[in-house]
Amino acid sequence: EKQGFRHFMLKEIYEQPNVIRSCLEAYLNPDWHPQNNSQVSPINLGLSESLLNKVENVQILACGTSWHSSLVGKYLIEQLAGIPTMVQYASEFRYAPSPITANTLSIGVTQSGETADTLAALETEKQRRIALESKYQPRILGITNRPESTLAHMVNEIINTQAGIEVGVAATKSFTAQLMGFYLLALELAYRRQALSLEQFATIIEGLRHLPRQMELVLEKQESLIEELAHEFNDTQDFIFLGRGINFPIALEGALKLKEISYIHAEGYPAGEMKHGPIALLDAKVPVVAIAMPGLVYEKVISNAQEAKARDARLIGVTVIDDLDASHTFDDLLTVPKVDEILSPMLAVIPLQLLAYHIAARRGLDVDQPRNLAKKRYG
Ligand code: BG6
Repeated sequence: EKQGFRHFMLKEIYEQPNVIRSCLEAYLNPDWHPQNNSQVSPINLGLSESLLNKVENVQILACGTSWHSSLVGKYLIEQLAGIPTMVQYASEFRYAPSPITANTLSIGVTQSGETADTLAALETEKQRRIALESKYQPRILGITNRPESTLAHMVNEIINTQAGIEVGVAATKSFTAQLMGFYLLALELAYRRQALSLEQFATIIEGLRHLPRQMELVLEKQESLIEELAHEFNDTQDFIFLGRGINFPIALEGALKLKEISYIHAEGYPAGEMKHGPIALLDAKVPVVAIAMPGLVYEKVISNAQEAKARDARLIGVTVIDDLDASHTFDDLLTVPKVDEILSPMLAVIPLQLLAYHIAARRGLDVDQPRNLAKKRYG
């Protein structure tokens, strides 16, 4: 049921705050408090000791939107837990698996739990490890929305992302739920390795708890503005999305959402790479969407955006509320509440989902069932 929404995709975009609430309720340890507890983990994913103990490296296998959440996952696992992490397209890994290493945690990320390449890549991984000595025994974790899926049966353990059934082919709530899975996993691994102080845990966890309300604010304040803005792109044929650091994968995801449902050509690029090629594409007909969240790479992104402006590109910034620098740089602002940079992908992706949705809906396209794409069905 669409419950009054025009499309399932829009309904599912609006479900995100509650999905994140469910994740936090399911997996944050209510007994943990920074003042009196260093003996219990702040996170309770229910994963076993044998899966997470002494992990020396992580490899993540996924496709599509799940591959994008995995790139954010890599950032989190490396920066919070300090564990080297690789992300591979499952369709590539299948035929050219990376050399085997000991104490590797392999993670398969798939919303449906049924994507053939992801399952095949994980099976390849499982079998080649079983064939070797005990220290290479497979440790495989699934991150999925469907605990009853084929994936869940073939891996050792799963994180159930709590997103519920997603009907729209373009993944939205399952994406932010996967991101939340990675925040929690990275924190759990960081706890085991004592990679963060109690204060650092407390700050991040407090930030996570505020996210659902902040996501609601983005939806409340931005949707009608974005619907208006979508009118401006009736004849647009190409879009560029730029981001850096933890928001580079969000640029990829913004571009993928637009491609999938509006059939507009869109490319996501790390902002610092724009000058090495894509800048040649820019002119007044190619809008550039840049994600400029306060933090380590903020000034770099602003300066990359200014380079695009010098080529007459229309500049749309995903920025925080009341950011003066950004308001001078960008032609249009899609704003979100200010949060720690490490949490910002959870908010930055929402205006991009809405932008893709409204551009496609305005073109009268079948947003929930885009041409040539299929979602693995339930049951
Ligand atoms: C594609 C869908 O076919 O599968 C994408 O069009 C999706 O939206 C991808 O991200 C992977 O799906 P899953 O279920 O493995 O996360």
